Amino acid sequence: MTAFVAGATGLTGRAVVAALRQRGVETRAHVRPDSSRLADWQARFGALGAEVDATPWTLAAMTATFRAHPPTLVFGLLGTTRKRMQAEEASYETVDYGLTVLLADAAVAAGARPRFVYLSSQGVKDGQTAGYLGARARVEAHLRQSGLPWTFARPSFILGDRDEARPGERVGASVADGLLAVARVFGGRKLAERYGSNDNETLAQGLVRVGLDPSFEGRIAEGADLR
Ligand SMILES: NC(=O)c1ccc[n+]([C@@H]2O[C@H](COP(=O)([O-])OP(=O)(O)OC[C@H]3O[C@@H](n4cnc5c(N)ncnc54)[C@H](OP(=O)(O)O)[C@@H]3O)[C@@H](O)[C@H]2O)c1
Repeated sequence: MTAFVAGATGLTGRAVVAALRQRGVETRAHVRPDSSRLADWQARFGALGAEVDATPWTLAAMTATFRAHPPTLVFGLLGTTRKRMQAEEASYETVDYGLTVLLADAAVAAGARPRFVYLSSQGVKDGQTAGYLGARARVEAHLRQSGLPWTFARPSFILGDRDEARPGERVGASVADGLLAVARVFGGRKLAERYGSNDNETLAQGLVRVGLDPSFEGRIAEGADLR
């Protein structure tokens, strides 16, 4: 088992690298080559026994990496935010859709055929095209027709210790969790399990678990499957 984690420096990604190493999975943690914190990540992931991979985001370079180190699992955990879009030239189209699709296309071109575990989102519906959810729906559609084995994860809010403050996420999660706690009292257990927030470490364990579980190939993992 060898895993390649794209978005390894994110809240979910760093926990996925740790969860994979806990299970003894050989892991390459991808860090963008121009990251100002490349040395920090090398130290942090190195301490977990993971290799840091700083392959540039081009199809040719990523294909060469997958040829040299064929993964059996690829985690697609990338995403930008509205705030980051303003700070760097990025969009849901170029990052959430573009880089994830590039990763899948590189795996196909390399003939690697890994299971692609894609961190999508609660609320994604087939056929959506616009905005954040539309980018995710189109990634899912691309993966379905790519020929790669896939698992999509659709959690609700993800919480944890972030490097940056995201008050909207915390408020959204506590409002949703509060409403769901009420719903649970009135028999809405399934609703609460599906739409309740996930903390990043529990989510990471869930992503690795479904990624390694043959019964989740070609399936969507909802919030409850990931806890
Ligand atoms: N937060 C939620 O409540 C929630 C719920 C469901 C789904 N999701 C989705 O799940 C995914 C992971 O969530 P998260 O909270 O773990 O995300 P996160 O902490 O914001 O991490 C995002 C990752 O994407 C990378 N990235 C962002 N912009 C990039 C760019 N222009 N080029 C290359 N890499 C880039 C980041 O790299 P750097 O560290 O180098 O910037 C980081 O590794 C995201 O797509 C998110 O939208 C989030």
